[in-house]
Amino acid sequence: MMNDEGERLQKVLAALGWGSRRICEDLIADERVTVNGEVAVLGRRVDTLVDVIAVDGVPIGARPDLVYYLLNKPRGVISTAHDPQGRPTVVDMVPQSPRVFPVGRLDADTEGLLLITNDGDLTHFLTHPSKGVEKEYLVQLRGNPRLTEGQLRKLRDGVELEDGPTAPAKVSQRSDTTLLITIHEGRNRQVRRMCEAVGHEVERLVRTRIGPITDPKLRPGTWRELSLAERKALIEAMSVAARR
Ligand code: URA
Repeated sequence: MMNDEGERLQKVLAALGWGSRRICEDLIADERVTVNGEVAVLGRRVDTLVDVIAVDGVPIGARPDLVYYLLNKPRGVISTAHDPQGRPTVVDMVPQSPRVFPVGRLDADTEGLLLITNDGDLTHFLTHPSKGVEKEYLVQLRGNPRLTEGQLRKLRDGVELEDGPTAPAKVSQRSDTTLLITIHEGRNRQVRRMCEAVGHEVERLVRTRIGPITDPKLRPGTWRELSLAERKALIEAMSVAARR
């Protein structure tokens, strides 16, 4: 590309929510921004269709081919990309093109927030246990018992499951009938099995947060695109994890 083609890097960064032009110029001057793997200099122009822009080594999603949907999954819909039995899947609930995939899984009976994207790096970050991204769940137990302090402590410290002990979790009694459980492992049916380990079955399970992403107003069965601010929050979380 000729030097005077494309958009100025600081303008692209600012449009993606990295702050004012001035702040974005500072990011570049501090050598935190690369284009196609090379440290960018001030005045650099980019073509967002082809150039890979990264801040602190993390691609910043300037690529227009990447899409990010936040779905409030209703009960009964499965969260694989395709079901051999032909049942409705979460992917059927969002635009069909470009081809997208759910970020991790929720059980068919689980409701709540699910990201659907074609961004493989983000999917890896959000689902890999080593990245420690928090997922928060609202839990209603069958019979609406109130857990004892001992049961809460067990859930917090970690319970023994058949595939090994669970890592420490944040657990609080949110109301007389609901618990709030935050985990960062994402093992199969983990919250349900944790509750069973202290003697209770889950009646209703709703995911209410994925890392920095939450939306109490998103109605069940509906979806929206992530905002720039949300994408930036995810990129920042990835950038923090990359520097650890
Ligand atoms: N934990 C579960 O038990 N099920 C889910 O769908 C998600 C977390």
